[in-house]
This record gives sequence, C-alpha cells and structure tokens, in this order.
Amino acid sequence: MSILSLRGLRKNFGATEIIRGVNLGIEAGEKHAIIGPNGAGKSTLFHLISGKYAPSAGAIEFKGQSLANLPPHRINRLGIARSFQVTNIFPRLSVFENIRCALLWPSGYRYSFWRPIEREAKLNGETEQVLEKIGLAGRAKIPAGEIAYSEQRALELGMAIAGGAELILLDEPVAGMSHSEADNAVDLIRRVTEGKTLVMVEHDMNIVFELADRISVLVYGEVIASGAPAEIRANAQVREAYLGEALSDA
Ligand SMILES: Nc1ncnc2c1ncn2[C@@H]1O[C@H](COP(=O)(O)OP(=O)(O)OP(=O)(O)O)[C@@H](O)[C@H]1O
Ligand SMILES: [Mg+2]
Repeated sequence: MSILSLRGLRKNFGATEIIRGVNLGIEAGEKHAIIGPNGAGKSTLFHLISGKYAPSAGAIEFKGQSLANLPPHRINRLGIARSFQVTNIFPRLSVFENIRCALLWPSGYRYSFWRPIEREAKLNGETEQVLEKIGLAGRAKIPAGEIAYSEQRALELGMAIAGGAELILLDEPVAGMSHSEADNAVDLIRRVTEGKTLVMVEHDMNIVFELADRISVLVYGEVIASGAPAEIRANAQVREAYLGEALSDA
C-alpha cells in the first residue's frame, strides 16, 4: 500500500489550471524525486500535500487517510514534514532552541504549561541527538540567523525530522549551495531520511540520480513519466521535455 497517494489531483488559480490531474503513489520508505521545468507546478504540488493550498479536485491520502480540509499543522502532526524552497528557521533563536521548538510542535506545546524536570531533561537530550545527527552540535548556542547558509539548510532539515515525521518533503534542498556543500547535503539527507519516505523536488540532476530510487517528471501540471532513474534517463519524451537540457550541464 502507498504511504501517500494522489488521485486525479487538480489545482487552478483563477482560470489557470496549474496541476492538471496528477495520479501518483509513493511507497513507504521510497526516495522519490519530482523533476520538471520551472513553473511546472512542483512547489504547488507540495503546497497541496502539506495543506497550504486546497485542491480544486481530486484526493490526497496519507496512510489511507484523506487529507481533505485538514489545516497544515494537523497534516504535520499526522507525520508529514516539509522544508520550503526558502529557508524557514527562527533567526534570533539559537540553533538549539530552533530544534527544541520543532520537537515541541507535535505535542502542541503542552510541555510549556507543566514541565517536570525529567521531561525537560528528555527534551534537551532529544534536541542534542538531532543536533548530532545534522552535524550542528558544536553550533548549538549560536543564533540561527548567524550560521552559514548551508548550516541553516541542515538546521531546517533537523527541524523537519525532529517531530518524528514519516514522510519528508524537500523542495530544492541544495539550491544555492556550492558543489561541496551540496555533497554534504546529500549525505545529510540520506542520513536523516533513513527508514523514512522522502519526496523531493530538485533541479540538480546529479543530486536526483544520487538520491532517488524513483523519479516522476512533471510538465505543465501533468506527470509525463514515472519510474526508476535508468528508465527516466532513457525516456525520449522526458529527454525532449526536460532532461536533455538538464543533463547537458550535469
Ligand atoms: N498562489 C498562486 N497564484 C497564482 N499562480 C500561482 C500561485 N502559485 C503558483 N502559481 C503559478 O503556478 C505555476 C507553477 O508554480 P510552481 O511554483 O508550483 O512551479 P515549480 O514547478 O515549483 O517551479 P520552480 O522550478 O521554478 O520552482 C507558475 O506559473 C506560478 O506562477
Ligand atoms: Mg518550485
């Protein structure tokens, strides 16, 4: 059974249809990349899954449950976390506090009313574990706004996984990074999404082919192909619509 299933999904803004009937099933544990030209609707698809936008038609199910009419925070609590195309951290809070906040979200801030000392210690311990995992243990006390851009992206990833999400949506996780930063980010993404389901949007084909075990190609709001990396690479229609151009600079 798919952990995430999109059926007949459509979204229009006014008269313009941006998502035009997407059917897609994502298996639990899969690492899935969505590729396609600028303006194809990739970010919009993520906004539909995370609940920022309501679909104009069609269904989205997560572990068999419909996400229709659920607000973003409820969808997040069901186990779907996303990081945005732009960095989404609290710049004035420390790196440590950013992760701690993310750990508190799923509990709905209950801790802030009644915080026995052992619970506080457990929370701090969990925060340190996440920091360790994302390689920011040494940066814990620094305001998040003052660490390097690539570290902010790592922090954002830590915040996404801190709540224990099973499905992680990453929109262009290596955008704006240098080659070596992107290589580190790939290792990090692999590490933090181990045993989880990943759906990512990415333009850098090296990253896509390195991380994904299945790829879907979105062009003008429609999935024109879906399959293993080798199949996608060999697909003539995909090469014509997108990959030829994307691979020539890879
Ligand atoms: N809130 C909105 N209102 C109207 N049009 C929108 C809105 N959000 C997105 N669009 C339009 O929908 C289309 C798809 O945008 P989207 O951001 O999903 O593309 P994308 O595939 O993520 O592109 P990129 O690769 O450049 O990030 C674009 O033409 C965009 O202008
Ligand atoms: Mg986008």
